[in-house]
Amino acid sequence: MARSLVSISDLRDDEISHLVELSRIFFEVNSREIPKVPTLRGKTIATLFFENSTRTRLSFELAATRLAADVLTFTLSSSSVSKGESLRDTAETIESLGADLIVMRHFSAGSVQLVSSWLDIPLVNAGDGAHEHPTQALLDAVTIMDHFKTGKRLDGISVAIVGDVLHSRVARSNVQLLSRLGANVTLVGPPSLLPLDLSLWPVRISNCLEDVLPGCDVIYMLRIQSERFSESLMPSIGEFSRAFALNSERLEMASKGAIVMHPGPMIKGVEITAEAAESPRSLIRTQVRNGVGVRMAVLYWLLGANQGRLESIW
Ligand code: NCD
Repeated sequence: MARSLVSISDLRDDEISHLVELSRIFFEVNSREIPKVPTLRGKTIATLFFENSTRTRLSFELAATRLAADVLTFTLSSSSVSKGESLRDTAETIESLGADLIVMRHFSAGSVQLVSSWLDIPLVNAGDGAHEHPTQALLDAVTIMDHFKTGKRLDGISVAIVGDVLHSRVARSNVQLLSRLGANVTLVGPPSLLPLDLSLWPVRISNCLEDVLPGCDVIYMLRIQSERFSESLMPSIGEFSRAFALNSERLEMASKGAIVMHPGPMIKGVEITAEAAESPRSLIRTQVRNGVGVRMAVLYWLLGANQGRLESIW
């Protein structure tokens, strides 16, 4: 079984630090007039997405292209899965076609780990159910570090993750990564949208956004992921928005230097208003831009660097 990236817990501290360094090298590559290096020429990267996605899929595909890899795109609706093919057969077919790495998103938690146990090539988890989304957390961490100029750590940075934490793989990966890097993380939301047992999570909890805003450096908003709800967990969306949406008035309550983040897709008017999302304090577009370089770093690390090809970035 090859080395894969399924969870933040797969990474040692020195590997996180190495991925941050590599990401910054690729940010520089991406700022060149021709943002492309031949590092993964001859490699084939397949994207296997069983759930809809705009930015994550495009970001991985652009990352692979900028490293000069070939990209194989699997789309659920036009695949043999709709004829009843099993996940194992689909994954093995992609490996047999010659893919060197699979980027996979699936609606079931644990599915990426399962597929990686069947194959000999690395897998990158691009989101599995409500479990994890490690490259989102890596790109968020680097975005925060670069904004606050904290090097390769986040010591002393206070992050509020707000909204539907219960169904969020982004929150799970971010809580692990940001707290390992030294950040203080507070989860904010109505009790029905926070996990029931948080005793093992390295976080503080609050049910009141206004209480938390003055003391945080990062306001990280989450979408209500209703596609993962089996029952109604809120009286109404309007009720949620009144208490937890980030709007201009609430943004005023935050400290002067606080920044706004969101993994996307945003539902403007529900968890965040257009004014808050587009305010000068918003780093939402920087997150998307940084995502490409961070994913180049992850692909390179799993396919290139481990094979002694470090010098060939240039
Ligand atoms: C997130 C996801 O898919 O988990 N989006 C993303 O990858 N940028 C968050 C979400 O869907 O709300």
